[in-house]
Amino acid sequence: MRTIAELETAARERLEPAHYDFFAGAAGDEVTLQANEEAFRRRCLVPRVLRGGGKRDLAVEIAGSPLSMPVLVAPTAFHRLAHPDGERATAGATAAAGTVMVVSMASTTAVEDIADAARAVAPDPALWFQLYLQPDPEFTEHVVRRAERAGVRALVVTVDSPVYGRRERDHRNEFHDLPPGLIVENLRDGEGRVRDIEMSAELSWEHLGRLRERTKLPLLLKGVLHPEDARLAVGAGVDGLVVSNHGGRQLDTAVAALDALPALAEAVGGVLPLVLDGGVRRGTDVVKALALGADAVGIGRPVLWGLAAAGREGVAEVLDRLREEVDHALALCGAKSPAELTADLVR
Ligand code: FNR
Repeated sequence: MRTIAELETAARERLEPAHYDFFAGAAGDEVTLQANEEAFRRRCLVPRVLRGGGKRDLAVEIAGSPLSMPVLVAPTAFHRLAHPDGERATAGATAAAGTVMVVSMASTTAVEDIADAARAVAPDPALWFQLYLQPDPEFTEHVVRRAERAGVRALVVTVDSPVYGRRERDHRNEFHDLPPGLIVENLRDGEGRVRDIEMSAELSWEHLGRLRERTKLPLLLKGVLHPEDARLAVGAGVDGLVVSNHGGRQLDTAVAALDALPALAEAVGGVLPLVLDGGVRRGTDVVKALALGADAVGIGRPVLWGLAAAGREGVAEVLDRLREEVDHALALCGAKSPAELTADLVR
C-alpha cells in the first residue's frame, strides 16, 4: 500500500500536465494551500500511555450518516479528467470503505449514475451532494430534487465562492474548459440544456433560509472559517459545518483550516458536527483535527491522486491506507475511539 505522497507521484506521471495542475493548484501564490499542510506539521502529539482498551473502533456518525472511519471524500470536480471511470470509480471505492462520498455539483457523471455505482457495492451507501446555490432559485431547486430522487442523504452547500478563485496555474496553461465529450451532467436543466455553474456575490443567509424551507435533507455549510459565521449558522438551522478554505483554491492567504478549527469548535460548542478539510495527508493529521474539535475530516486531492494512479483500486488504496494510519495513530496515542481524542494530546 502506497502513501498518499507516493500516489501523487504516480498520478502526476499519468496525468496531462495541465490536468495535474488543475487538481494540484490553488489560488494566487498558493500560500493557503501550503499553510493547510504546514498547520498539521507544526503541531505535535503528546500521547498517553498504559490506558488499556485493546482494539480500536473508528466509526462515527455525522448528520445522520454512519461512517466506518472519521474520514470522508470531499467534493471535487471533474473526476473523469483523472480517470475514464471517473466518479463511478470513486463512488464504488468509497461505498466499499463504508464512508461518505460528497458528490460535487461539478461532477462529470450524473448524480443518478454515481448513486447506482455506489449501490452496486453497498445496499445503502452514504452519498451527500455538494451544491452551489444558483442565482436562479428554481434551477437550484431542480438540482436539489434530482439529488434527492437519486437518494443522497445530505446537502453540502459551499459558501466560500461568491466569485471564482484566481487559479494562476490554470490561466498559464489556458485550461478553461473540459475536453470534448465531458460535461457537468448535474447541470442539465428541465429542457435538457446543460447550464454553467454561476457563482453569485448576491447570496445571503436569506437564500440559505429558502433552501432550508424546501428540503428535509440535513444541510451542511462548507467553507466557514470565521467564528461569527459559525454562530450565525447555528441560528440558521443548519445541521453541520465544513471548516474549509476550499483547499486554498478560493481566497489565498486565508487561514489554514486546522488553525481556524479551535475557535469554530468553541463557537458552536458541540451543537453542530464539524468536518475539517484541507491538507489531510496522514493518519496523524486526522488525529490532530479530531483532537482539536473536528468530528471527521474530508480529503480532496488524495482521492484524485488515487483515482488518477489506479482508478477504483487507487481510491480504495487511499482510503485503506488512511484507515490503517488512523488506527495506528490512535493506538499510539492511547485512545480506542475518536471520542477519546482531546485537545491536550496536541501541542
Ligand atoms: C475542490 N473542492 C471543491 N469544493 C466544492 O465544494 N466543490 C467542488 O466542486 C470542488 N472542486 C474541487 C476540485 C479540485 C480539483 C480540488 C482540489 C478541490 C474543494 C474540496 O472539496 C476540499 O475543500 C479541498 O480539496 C480540501 O483540501 P485537500 O484535501 O485537497 O488538501
